[in-house]
Amino acid sequence: MLEASKKKRVAVLISGRGSNMEALIEASKHPDCPYQITLVFSNIAEAKGLETAKKAGIETAILDHRGHGGRAAYDRKVLDILKAANADIVVLAGYMRIITPEFVAAWEGRMLNIHPALLPSFTGLDTHQRALDAGVKLHGCTVHFVTAELDAGPIIAQASVPVLDEDTEETLAHRVLKQEHRIYAEALKDLAAGNLILKDKRVFHRKG
Ligand code: GRF
Repeated sequence: MLEASKKKRVAVLISGRGSNMEALIEASKHPDCPYQITLVFSNIAEAKGLETAKKAGIETAILDHRGHGGRAAYDRKVLDILKAANADIVVLAGYMRIITPEFVAAWEGRMLNIHPALLPSFTGLDTHQRALDAGVKLHGCTVHFVTAELDAGPIIAQASVPVLDEDTEETLAHRVLKQEHRIYAEALKDLAAGNLILKDKRVFHRKG
């Protein structure tokens, strides 16, 4: 069992449902998990994931993104909240905000995102419908480091799923989401344990 003081402190940023956050919370319950979730932050007060976090006994914070005089000023306040929480790692989990370069720089190599597509295909929104429209036979999800360019940071992990003839946006999203929950927890554990090596655009996993 790993002592709590040795576990990396993770802040998860959400805007909605929070199923990825929940998967990360579940994985953190293992005694040897190298991270603990110490804060769940949302820009949306009604985000469903906030309730899930509270039920799990995790501290939550909310700061509505409106009325701060712009993106930079808002992000600075969020940075202050994360610093006050002594976060070591920041995890974006359905956080529906474009973040500023200053915010990204503050967490370089320590901020992860999950994207519901096999990057570099289908960056941005509506990935499942776009995958169906493009007729791809494989779709999936990607965990990557966050850099200033949207959905373009170094890739840590990916999982693919087949696209079936009878798929709708919903059925495909459901199949991908199951994989998201699996690879996000694995990637976060690897980062927290110091098992990821970043060289240029490539991420290598330390062996042994
Ligand atoms: C996920 O599909 C994730 O890949 C994307 O936003 C969605 C968030 O879902 N970035 P949830 O809030 O984790 O359930």
